Amino acid sequence: MMVACLLFVLMWALMAGAELRFASYFADHMVLQKGPACAVLWGYGDPGANLTVKVYQGEHTVMKQTVQADEVLRIWKAVLSPMAQGGPYSIEVYQFYKEEVTNITLQDVYFGDVWLCSGQSNMEMTVSQIFNASKELAEASRFPYVRVFAASLAQSEEELLDLPGIDLQWSVPTAENLGHGDFSYFSAVCWLFGRYLYEMLQYPIGLVESSWGGTPIEAWSSQKALRSCGLSEDHRRVPVSYPNSGPKAFSVLWNAMIHPLLNMTLQGVIWYQGEANTLMDTDLYNCTFPALIEDWRKAFHDGSVGQTEQSFPFGFVQVSTYHRVGVDDSFPRIRWHQTADYGYVPNKKMPNTFMAVALDLCDASSPYGSIHPRDKQSVAYRLHLGALAVAYGKDNLTFQGPFPQQVQVDVALKLLNVTYNQNIQLHHMDSKIFEVCCSDLALCKWKPIPIRTASFRTVTLHNLVCPQTVTGLRYAWTEWPCEYKQCPLYNIHSLPAPPFISFSHNSPVWVVS
Ligand SMILES: *[C@@H]1O[C@H](CO)[C@@H](O)[C@H](O)[C@H]1NC(C)=O
Ligand SMILES: *[C@@H]1O[C@H](CO)[C@@H](O)[C@H](O)[C@H]1NC(C)=O
Ligand SMILES: *[C@@H]1O[C@H](CO)[C@@H](O)[C@H](O)[C@H]1NC(C)=O
Ligand SMILES: *[C@@H]1O[C@H](CO)[C@@H](O)[C@H](O)[C@H]1NC(C)=O
Ligand SMILES: *[C@@H]1O[C@H](CO)[C@@H](O)[C@H](O)[C@H]1NC(C)=O
Ligand SMILES: *[C@@H]1O[C@H](CO)[C@@H](O)[C@H](O)[C@H]1NC(C)=O
Ligand SMILES: *[C@@H]1O[C@H](CO)[C@@H](O)[C@H](O)[C@H]1NC(C)=O
Repeated sequence: MMVACLLFVLMWALMAGAELRFASYFADHMVLQKGPACAVLWGYGDPGANLTVKVYQGEHTVMKQTVQADEVLRIWKAVLSPMAQGGPYSIEVYQFYKEEVTNITLQDVYFGDVWLCSGQSNMEMTVSQIFNASKELAEASRFPYVRVFAASLAQSEEELLDLPGIDLQWSVPTAENLGHGDFSYFSAVCWLFGRYLYEMLQYPIGLVESSWGGTPIEAWSSQKALRSCGLSEDHRRVPVSYPNSGPKAFSVLWNAMIHPLLNMTLQGVIWYQGEANTLMDTDLYNCTFPALIEDWRKAFHDGSVGQTEQSFPFGFVQVSTYHRVGVDDSFPRIRWHQTADYGYVPNKKMPNTFMAVALDLCDASSPYGSIHPRDKQSVAYRLHLGALAVAYGKDNLTFQGPFPQQVQVDVALKLLNVTYNQNIQLHHMDSKIFEVCCSDLALCKWKPIPIRTASFRTVTLHNLVCPQTVTGLRYAWTEWPCEYKQCPLYNIHSLPAPPFISFSHNSPVWVVS
């Protein structure tokens, strides 16, 4: 008791000498969100202290602001004026407290777009683990205005204010910090996404990685988001073990790896997660994923006092491929549920989102297991196309593969004509990737039917199986639908047709989705 009290007094004394400091993730070399949004800075000071925040370019003061630290929490927070892209700037914070003046500084700060990258092991996979790793690492130094930051793996039962740890403090990219080691830092998808954006936009990009392998969406969701899908603590399930397994308890990663970042102004989020949910709550993902997106949007908007846009762009990767034996269709189901069962995004339930289709980027001989394909360049390239279209308003850009609009049953010719929304590039004939259902949906045994021809926007299938009783049609509904970049259907920009499933409801012509 005595010891505990002494310890408490000692700790209190240490805290009372409270240093002036920034929150953990404000550091030299960082990128802060540029205008029209305002960047938010925060940190700790003495109770009720007056502080002045100054932004300098060289010797020149470009902005000055006065704030006060909270009497109890000792937190101060400054919403800067909107800044144009560029730099370098330095930021100094002076604290005036009981006649004492102290100061802290950030150097080499740029304003640009800040993207948060989250998810599981395919987001965690580092630049050193992917194809052409040495080339990608060697090129790092050509992109000094793409800055990187990685949060440490951490979980918590409570929502935390600040990050418990940082693996990579804000840094200028180098071969060493982009290729630190397997599944550590820095994320290849995040890096390449940022790099491709930089090549288009030509202004600074800040990348914040907060990801953990083998984690289900439930761990990244707030209690509120989970409740909206009917999940609560009483539903905690013990899921099957999984390669590279991180924590699975509800909200623990939201609490420790996302909540602390809410006060940072962001441009958007990218997300590569879903594999773990092929083993857990798979058929809830069409609720839990849209709920996470909406919840994160509201929380980042509120946390940044309205600076992060309420409906900020949210991009994600549709899960790729995995060689397993004797398993169910949980992979195609997750892919479908990732789009809230529309098959494409954005859609009504998932506005302002974009998706990289990855079902044709398989890698059977990946040394990290086939669930970790090494072509992250194509993933990031497809993702950045979506960002340009959805987040940066490049209206004319084709960023989605062809999606079917209508299916027409030709009983006489024993054909099914599938009309897409874009011209089709037929890479090769395929006799298995389309499947029909010939009976009651509940009893359905899906049977493959071959492609016969494709011209312009129509793919014609030869349906000898059940020319008169088609009740459903699906495409690429397997874990591993084709070999590397060898699915049959693409558009002229080499973007693959995503998987779909659709039902006729007894009509000879039906609209898909
Ligand atoms: C902060 O500034 C106000 C107004 O100048 C002053 O009244 C107050 O005492 C200052 N607070 C501290 C802790 O110095
Ligand atoms: C800021 O603090 C450092 C010591 O930490 C001091 O050397 C420096 O002069 C201070 N800067 C100003 C402008 O007060
Ligand atoms: C999600 O998918 C499951 C299984 O297909 C379905 O029963 C459920 O109604 C869907 N939920 C939503 C919200 O779309
Ligand atoms: C950050 O935002 C969260 C969510 O709005 C809030 O609970 C927290 O107090 C904020 N932290 C700071 C330092 O303002
Ligand atoms: C690797 O580099 C070669 C040669 O430049 C290139 O042809 C190939 O597409 C690259 N692979 C990936 C996945 O980017
Ligand atoms: C889109 O393309 C059309 C025709 O090529 C062109 O007139 C228009 O300016 C383009 N719009 C944008 C936003 O690039
Ligand atoms: C289906 O397409 C074929 C050409 O591939 C055409 O001959 C046939 O008339 C079409 N059937 C229907 C019902 O549109």
